[in-house]
Amino acid sequence: MASNQDIIGREDVNDLEAILSISNAEVDAVQHAVRAEADALFTWDYDQSRPALVKLYEKAKTSQWSATTDLDWSIEVDQEQVVLANAEQNFGTGMTLGTEFDTTGTPFAKWGDKEWIQLGIESQNWTLSQFMHGEQGALICTAQIVETVPWIDAKYYAATQVMDEARHVEVFARYLDTKLSGHYPINAHLKMLLDDIIADGRWDMTYLGMQIMVEGLALAAFGFIHQLTTEPLLKKLLRYVMSDEARHVAFGVLSLQEYYQELSAAEIRERQEFAFEAATRMRDRFLQQEVWDRMGIDVKEAVKLVMQAPDRQMFQALLFSKIVPNCKKLGLLDAGDGWLRTKFGELGVIQFEDWTDTGDEYTLLDEVAKDREAASA
Ligand SMILES: [Fe+2]
Ligand SMILES: [Fe+2]
Repeated sequence: MASNQDIIGREDVNDLEAILSISNAEVDAVQHAVRAEADALFTWDYDQSRPALVKLYEKAKTSQWSATTDLDWSIEVDQEQVVLANAEQNFGTGMTLGTEFDTTGTPFAKWGDKEWIQLGIESQNWTLSQFMHGEQGALICTAQIVETVPWIDAKYYAATQVMDEARHVEVFARYLDTKLSGHYPINAHLKMLLDDIIADGRWDMTYLGMQIMVEGLALAAFGFIHQLTTEPLLKKLLRYVMSDEARHVAFGVLSLQEYYQELSAAEIRERQEFAFEAATRMRDRFLQQEVWDRMGIDVKEAVKLVMQAPDRQMFQALLFSKIVPNCKKLGLLDAGDGWLRTKFGELGVIQFEDWTDTGDEYTLLDEVAKDREAASA
């Protein structure tokens, strides 16, 4: 990894200067190229010898859905109403910041209802924009896995995931364009992370970065917002996206569990470092520095306050509730001298290690199948 030294070498993982020194210099570009060094692998072994992946592939084929016909796009969304309805419980978006802090002497001191509502709207535009960009990252990474993974079962499964991710980019883009009020460019930390994952040609690194880390976080974040939102279109959209994401994370866990058994201690250590780098970048991305900038507020001051807000810390930690148990299941937490356990402790997320892992949670989360069963009954 070319860039992980800035995180591994960071003395304090919460160093604000280091976090804010990362910015996206290409916000006006329409395209962004990343060079991936990888061999496209044929396999002549067509034997479907991995029953867990075969089962996942069959499930993926029957649980496909269509953004056009399975969601009701005629539902009208009043974004301001959504923000107000969620304000009470919507911790994590900054909406409660005004009540949680004495804002005297902070950049928020002059804010009234108008600014807090605008912050809620900008936060939603920003959050959904980042989901959309992340989904495109998943689309590209999974297409890459189709080429690079050596097992036929995994190529078959990854092909279904490519279709899933196209649908996810489509639904978030459509929701942003027709229901919300503006796009944001990709967040600097998320962009750096996706670039690193794509540039590393080793197929298992693509899985670790995307299926375990990015999608593990997405699954937790979607679940959190799904619970909080009262807007029916977004609620159903997230339920359906989560049905797919649970399979994707399971795909990562099932594949890497087998592969990691062959790796040396040094190779495992490299994967621990990569997992920590990814976790830190994702934590940093949720500080939404672009939103503070657009609200015309001092970014450093705002981020400093946000990092200390207790509800914010809880939200941030919860995002890791899928990642940590999955890393444990893969043996990454305690391998070697338990380096990753220590690092996840520093990030404040180790408490999730014994939560449910995502190896076979996907059948429980298949809301698409449940709706179909209910409809045919
Ligand atoms: Fe996705
Ligand atoms: Fe996914």
